[in-house]
Amino acid sequence: MRRPLVAGNWKMNGSRAGIKGLLEAVRADAVQTPGVDIAVCPPFVYLADVEAALKGCAVAWGGQNLCQETGAGAFTGEISGEMLRDFGCRYVIIGHSERRALYGESDAMVARKFLAANAAGLIPIVCVGELLEEREAGTTEAVIARQLDAVLEVVDATDALARAVIAYEPVWAIGTGRTATPAQAQDVHDFIRPRVARRDKDAAAALRILYGGSVKGSNAAELFAMADIDGGLIGGASLKAEEFLEICLAAQSA
Ligand code: 13P
Repeated sequence: MRRPLVAGNWKMNGSRAGIKGLLEAVRADAVQTPGVDIAVCPPFVYLADVEAALKGCAVAWGGQNLCQETGAGAFTGEISGEMLRDFGCRYVIIGHSERRALYGESDAMVARKFLAANAAGLIPIVCVGELLEEREAGTTEAVIARQLDAVLEVVDATDALARAVIAYEPVWAIGTGRTATPAQAQDVHDFIRPRVARRDKDAAAALRILYGGSVKGSNAAELFAMADIDGGLIGGASLKAEEFLEICLAAQSA
């Protein structure tokens, strides 16, 4: 079976002093949840502190974004995949809805970032998800297909696909306290996996598909109990040590 992954997306939160206690707690979580992969994705500027705090334990870390360009060069304000690797990152979040909506990241840009992540040896966590209007208009699957296909079209090695992680994050559930029901989430996950299988059946079977959007300690277990939900991408609750542990424990017993 697929090993669950619980990844915390800290977004633009935290301070050098404030993350110390949280990192200690996350380090301790790993001991209690040996069957779960755990990761945290802090703001770039805290990566060195995170690396120092988590080195040698089972918790991995990653970036929240990366530059679509590989190598070095004149890209003011950008961070490359190689730089993330330099700080020990295993993962990088790509195409988060906040980046798509607030920073104009297109499907094509997300696909380029996928390739840049692969080239740097990072595991991309590719976010897809529909807006409330799109769900209400009945176009959820069309939106997910468009976002997913943009990436599937550029992947040339299917092992890159098998290593990748997809996160289904309905935009209407992010930071709203309104979680998708387990059945709603499962429906979309069960749309994503066969779509990937059209490209590579084995990669699709191995692919971890996370759910994200108002996951909390109190609703994680019912979500993770669904057949195609392989863990979570956690925003707000990843900043609270006890909530995050509860979510990791739910994944452990799923
Ligand atoms: P919340 O868990 O705060 O809803 O955020 C989800 C998210 O966007 C994770 O990437």
